[in-house]
Amino acid sequence: MTEISLSVNGRSVCGVAEPRTHLADFLRDTLDLTGTHLRCEQGVCGACTVLIDGAPARSCINYAVACQGAEVTTVEGFGTDGVMAQLRAAFHAEHALQCGFCTPGMLVTARDIVLRLPDADAARVRTELAGNLCRCTGYAGIVRAICRVLEDRKAEGADAIPQGRLGPVGARAAAVSSAQAAAPPAAVTAAAPATGELGLGGRAPNLETALAFTVRRPLAEVWAVLDDIPRVARCMPGATLTAPPADGRVEGRVAVKVGPIATNFTGTAHIARDEPGKRGMLSGAGRDSLSGSSARAEITYALAPGGTDATRIDIAVRALLAGPLAQFGRSQIVQGLMARLAAEFARRLEAMLEGGEDAPPASEAALRPWALVAAAIAEKFRSLFRKAR
Ligand code: FES
Ligand code: FES
Repeated sequence: MTEISLSVNGRSVCGVAEPRTHLADFLRDTLDLTGTHLRCEQGVCGACTVLIDGAPARSCINYAVACQGAEVTTVEGFGTDGVMAQLRAAFHAEHALQCGFCTPGMLVTARDIVLRLPDADAARVRTELAGNLCRCTGYAGIVRAICRVLEDRKAEGADAIPQGRLGPVGARAAAVSSAQAAAPPAAVTAAAPATGELGLGGRAPNLETALAFTVRRPLAEVWAVLDDIPRVARCMPGATLTAPPADGRVEGRVAVKVGPIATNFTGTAHIARDEPGKRGMLSGAGRDSLSGSSARAEITYALAPGGTDATRIDIAVRALLAGPLAQFGRSQIVQGLMARLAAEFARRLEAMLEGGEDAPPASEAALRPWALVAAAIAEKFRSLFRKAR
């Protein structure tokens, strides 16, 4: 058990929690704040949404111990909040709830929308609500209620709250656990920019994944082509360069849309290569123009012989997502998506190496997002079937 102290609804509280206890359990079981609801417990439905340091966050996927020193606001903590009072009245007037199970999370998200996006229209409100699921209402009443508050506040001349209030959600967790973060390969780290401007800059990631695939070409050939950034970019689904690479610095854009996840990241990266070790590291930072999310990432790759005239590529991704996209960080679909993108990258790389010609530019090649989703679902069913047998 670990002792933690934090502020909840403006009150300092202390308690003990197991390292694996998530914040929602701590709020409900230790502090009796049962207004925070739990349903999926994997960051998908939004029922458990609270504010952590002013930013909406899933309390089911934030460890209580990681909230040491944080300011947490649950639905019970908005008793004197004017915007929440407007929302409560509008939810009532527009019949925006039936059973009310999703309502605490909906209200916390709705308040964030109202304060952050004063000019949002109904379509934008629906997009912003994509992370909160309701089984009863069909959403029409909820959207109407939020739009009603937006209109009322516009009529009152109310201002948006200043930006920069978001995240990264769990930043305190990052600070606490940064010492535990896995170190990237030493030889490569030495070549990475020392400014901390790109990559994680010592922060702990909130998304980590590793994957491996094999390309049926000799190692030397694969290593050489990975040094040709424009050609590599053409193999990456959704990626385009926005400026010619220079001195290992790359500027580009990555646009991917799969189901509820749509991104259009523009960013910069630095690539360092460790020639003898046949590995490299990409340190990057970018911003998603669609959701306003930001991301920092360190991606390491290592090449090894993968059989006769074949090369195994191991990739480790450590990323720190902030903003709305961070809510999807742990969902299986993100992991599945990355695996599918890697498979598509390997396919294009192989085709390019075998044909001696460039793979079709990513912007022209259809990513077929629903094929990716369907493949992820099919894999899920296959694994369930294997378990059942
Ligand atoms: S219970 Fe936390 S997102 Fe569903
Ligand atoms: S009102 Fe019942 S789940 Fe939303």
